[in-house]
Amino acid sequence: MTTLKNMSQLGFTNLEEEVMLDDLHVQGKIPEWLSGSLIRNGPAKFDLDKQSLKHWFDGLAMLHKFSFNAGKVSYTNKFIKSNAFLKTKEKGKISFREFATDPCRSIFSKVSSMFSFDTTDNTNVNISKIDNKFIAMTETPIPIEYDPETLDTIGVLNYDDKLLGNLTTAHPHYDQNTNESFNYLTHFSRNSKYNVYSITAGKTRNLITSIEAKTPSYMHSFGLTEHYIILVEFPLLVNSLDLLLSGRPFIENFKWRPEQGTKFTLINRLDGKVAGIYSCEPFFAFHHINAFEVDNKVVIDMITYKDNNIINSLYLDVLRGNDPIDIPVSQYRRFTIGLDEGSVGYKIMHEGLELPRINYQLNTRNYNFLYAVGMSSVTSFTDRLVKIDVKTGDSVSWTEQNCQPGEPVFVPRHGAKEEDDGVILSVVLDPNSGQSFLLILDSKSFKEIARASVPHHIPFGIHGQYYGDT
Ligand code: CO
Repeated sequence: MTTLKNMSQLGFTNLEEEVMLDDLHVQGKIPEWLSGSLIRNGPAKFDLDKQSLKHWFDGLAMLHKFSFNAGKVSYTNKFIKSNAFLKTKEKGKISFREFATDPCRSIFSKVSSMFSFDTTDNTNVNISKIDNKFIAMTETPIPIEYDPETLDTIGVLNYDDKLLGNLTTAHPHYDQNTNESFNYLTHFSRNSKYNVYSITAGKTRNLITSIEAKTPSYMHSFGLTEHYIILVEFPLLVNSLDLLLSGRPFIENFKWRPEQGTKFTLINRLDGKVAGIYSCEPFFAFHHINAFEVDNKVVIDMITYKDNNIINSLYLDVLRGNDPIDIPVSQYRRFTIGLDEGSVGYKIMHEGLELPRINYQLNTRNYNFLYAVGMSSVTSFTDRLVKIDVKTGDSVSWTEQNCQPGEPVFVPRHGAKEEDDGVILSVVLDPNSGQSFLLILDSKSFKEIARASVPHHIPFGIHGQYYGDT
């Protein structure tokens, strides 16, 4: 009998060293047209001198950059030198409330922290650009600017407005037809609100609407179509006073209340009016994939879970334990809201996927291809990369024994006419060698074109973006 073992521990182990390497060893041939950088963000330090963090999402942020030039690949990685990071270095333990770990406080500081949210700037989730500045983001609205050449931390980027909020998403949307960015802030107070905003230029957030939220939902992302912003409120809800006063880590204040169901709110992008509210059975999700309008219907694709247990399955004691890991199986669901009928229904498209990506040129439009990691194994956190033909349901995948790929980022080929003409970039953890490599797949055939080896392991990252040289 074979004994199942957790092969993922290395992916949740500290990476301490910061390197700058001009020329990684490449197997295969990097396409000559690939000229730009993949920058990725994610937690990279989980064990501090005097404290271990509890959850994958608590780890200290590190940026990794792979730059492509004339068939060569360079690599740089650096911790984000946030306040959270610097304090941690000084004290050997955290000073701010993270996603699921709280600083151990004396009674006095517990009392004083009641009056503040004590927000962390450990921006370990995603990266984006605001006002042409490169920023790292988490779910507190404190973006940190970094230098895209060196990955050096520049500092907190301050907005030019007074919009209120304590929680946001690290998944802003961008509409390339209108050059607008969208996101929202949850403002916790006696009368909590979602402040939905756009950025059209500079660092000014323009309030589109404020929506009352008696018990705000934990939402990691949202949907965008040509005319609507879509908030999908899962019944993972918080009482704002609990969040202020409980002293518990952030996410532990949210309660699963399935009797409330899940609520879709369609907000008109132009005037901020609520175009409709649609309820359905309870479910939870981190990631919206894409959304679009067709024939007086709104289609919303998401990676869903039947409840919030996925969050509990990402605690480090589970992920780093010796037992096989047990991660709830996701469903890729296509929700359709009939604007005439006033109802929402869904069909299941696929199972066991996460970290979904599309050709973002098709954002807000009907699309054909989805790329994601597969999570169907009990011995490793992820076990394959998958490409799905959304229209036919056909799928192809890439696997290699024990290898655990991260989020697949699609890069279109210059002049591409077809949606899937380009490459997929994914950082893969290889526990056999104790190192990671950057994998490049042809996105049409989903076959390997090349890989570039990194001299250390890269802990499981969360999100990244590709920036072409212009
Ligand atoms: Co995300």
